[in-house]
Order: sequence, then structure tokens, then C-alpha cells
Amino acid sequence: GNALNGRIAIGGAKNAALPLMVASLLTADTLVLSRAPRLADIRTLTELLRQHGVEIDMYAAGAGHEMSLRTPAITSTTAPYDIVRKMRASALVPGPLVARCGQARVSLPGGCAIGTRPVDLHIRGLQQMGAAIELESGYIEAKAPKGLRGAEIVFPFVSVGATENLMMAACLAKGETRLVNAAREPEVADLAHCLVAMGAEIDGIGSDTVIIQGRDSLHGARHEIIADRIEAGSFAIAAGMAGGCLELDGIELGLIGIAAETLRAAGLTLESIPKGIRVTAERGGIIGTDVMTEPFPGFPTDLQAQMMALLSVANGASMVTETIFENRFMHVPELVRMGANINLHQASAMIRGVPHLTGAPVMATDLRASMCLVLAGLAAQGETVISRVYHLDRGYERLEEKLAGCGADIERVREGG
Ligand code: EPZ
Repeated sequence: GNALNGRIAIGGAKNAALPLMVASLLTADTLVLSRAPRLADIRTLTELLRQHGVEIDMYAAGAGHEMSLRTPAITSTTAPYDIVRKMRASALVPGPLVARCGQARVSLPGGCAIGTRPVDLHIRGLQQMGAAIELESGYIEAKAPKGLRGAEIVFPFVSVGATENLMMAACLAKGETRLVNAAREPEVADLAHCLVAMGAEIDGIGSDTVIIQGRDSLHGARHEIIADRIEAGSFAIAAGMAGGCLELDGIELGLIGIAAETLRAAGLTLESIPKGIRVTAERGGIIGTDVMTEPFPGFPTDLQAQMMALLSVANGASMVTETIFENRFMHVPELVRMGANINLHQASAMIRGVPHLTGAPVMATDLRASMCLVLAGLAAQGETVISRVYHLDRGYERLEEKLAGCGADIERVREGG
């Protein structure tokens, strides 16, 4: 229940860092990534890439951390189930592996809390580029002994991962690849800029049609990872929940995109300051507003759960519609236990704002749902205890430190589950 006042440094984006790490498979030279966030997902992908033959070091550099990755040779083309099942981003490795050494044997990722999350667009795209694909005993077997060839790939719907996977594969394919209806998320553009720095030829970066001319090889590069717009959006909502003024360092307001308009409609004030964003809100001053998640530049699905916490204490009603994942309302029953008034109807949630939430023991189910519960706890009357906070550590670095540093009464009472 404490107001939040102070400065929070925003880290490098998890969802840019992960594909950027996978891009290191495309060259035998060294790729250096600065502003590398220290997260569980980064450690999991490090484990996966090391067993493919990538030499990875992470070290302190300036105020943050840098990562250097070098793949002199691919020592294994198998991505095993026991690693892949822990993290969806493993689905990004087939494209670069096949492009670099003509084959890949990658475990199907399996589902997760927010949906089945198949990889059919990844597979179909690789087949169009000439890879022979078989699915056997839970693994994707991809082979292209004569290399991949460019193709025109039209996505039936936007997929961030499929766009990234196939864009990386296309960099070493023979000829031109056109990705139509490509994802336009800033993290996709960040990957494309890094690939260009590595010698790739890519046009249409940031648009829904990306054109890649294949190269025989790529070379090393140094690349700074873009700021994490989802971390920043999550902390902006924290200010909305608890009231106060937060200065978010190291991110441009433009990167927040349309979410800034939604937060303003909900009653927050967001202003650009030198190298950052100032968010101001008064407790109890939140206004109900409707939200629909969409691919970029629409409202990001990764902020939907956090936004629902904010709207549950708004004045008035809100409708939240989730159009990207089929099961991304796992946080709703937990919010209701804290006193929220939310009714689900298929892909939409009708929220009627309540004067306040009440602290309760709750359980995190997935990364963004766990952040939603932290935000609810910041504003609730009484104490909230969240279990299974390992979900949080996948995507938020030192969360309790950053919030406590701004006045929140929050502590980690024991490690892990
Ligand atoms: C990325 O996941 C992000 N993860 C997700 O962030 C994010 O929610 C999502 O994009 C949407 O923005 C990373 O970047 C590591 P998609 P991704 O392919 O690539 C379906 C977080 O909290 N689909 O754009 O897996 C899929 O099931 C995470 O940081 C297929 O059907 O998302 C989903 O319903 C969660 N077939 C929709 O498309 C496919 O081949 C969008 O998925 C691929 C996807």
C-alpha cells in the first residue's frame, strides 16, 4: 500500500536478448551483446546454446552486463527436450542450425500455461525454404544437406518467433526470401539490425514485409540490446496501482508505443525526460478503459495481465480482450480472490472496478501473471504472499530490489517455488 517514488533503471529486453543470442549460431566469429539482462530465461538459453557448441561468457561491463558468444563449430544439432520444455524461445534454434550446418533435431516445445503455442509456422517456412522436415517421437527433424534456398513466406497470422526464426535462416539461404505479414515488434527489428551489423542484407525492417538476400556467411558484431518495453510498462502500471511518481531510466517513450495512450486513458501521466520516462499517478485516480491485445503496434499481450490488475481498481468498468493467446487469463481467479470483480466470457474479461483489493495468499502461474499479482499486492490492503515466484525471475531482474528502492514494502521470503 505504499506510494512509489524514485528512479528505476530499465534493463535490456528479454524478448530481444533471446533471439539475439540464437543469432550467434549463424557465424564462427564473436557476437558481443551489451545491456544483457540477467534472467532465468537467459541462463536456460545459455545452457542450450552451449551444448550446440556456442562459447558464451557474461561479464560486468559499465553499469550492466555484456555477453560474448562465439560458435567456431556446431558440436551438436540436437536441442533436447529437458531444456526446450523449460523455455519456448528454444523454438528459435531450428532455422539458424539448419542454415549453418544443414540439419537440426529440436524437441517440440510442448505447451505452456498460456496456450498450446505450436510451431507449425516455423516448420512450414523451413519446408518452403527446402528443408525436409519429419516429426518423430516429439522431435522436429530438419534436413537441408544442400543448404536452404530463398522463398516467399506469407504468414496467415503474425508470429514473432516464426518471423525471427525464418529471418535468421534466410540470412544464409541461397537467393531472396520475402517474409509477408511479418511481426513488427521492436524486438524483431532489433534482431534485424544486429543481423545487418553481422553482414546480412535485410530490407523492410520494422515493416510487415521483410526481404532478405542470403549470404554465404555472416561475421561478428557488437550490438546493444534495446530496452525492455514490457518491464517499463509493468513499472508504469505499478505507479498507477500505488500512486506516486517513477522515473524509468534508459527507455524512450516511443518504444512503449500505443500502450502509453492506453495508460493515459486510464488516468496516468507519462512524460519524456532525458533518457527516460516519468510516470505520475494518484492512488484511486484510475479510470476504466477498454483494452484489446494485438500484434505490434497494438497493445502488447505481454502487458495484458498487468493492465488487468490496474483496471481492477479503476473507477468504472473495463473490457479486456486477449486476441493472441487462447489461455492468458490464468491471473483472473487469483485477482478475484483478492477482491477483484471480473467476469470472463471467451476471449474477453469484463472488469468492474472496486475501491480496493485485499491481500491474500496467491499463486503465480506464468511470467506476466506473476507480475500482475505483485502489482495487485502493491495496492491491496493487508499482506499478499505470492508462491512460485520462479516465474517472475524468468523475465524480471531484481524485481523486489527495484520496487523496494522506490518505497514498496516487498521482500522475497524464500528462494524459488
Ligand atoms: C513471443 O512469443 C514472445 N516471446 C512472447 O512473450 C509474446 O507474448 C509473443 O511473442 C507475442 O508477442 C519471446 O519473444 C521469447 P508468437 P512467440 O509466435 O514467438 C501462435 C513473455 O511473456 N503460433 O507471436 O512464441 C501462438 O500459439 C512471452 O515474455 C502458432 O499457432 O509468440 C500464439 O497464439 C510470452 N503457430 C500466437 O501465434 C506458430 O508456428 C502468437 O505467437 C507460432 C505461433
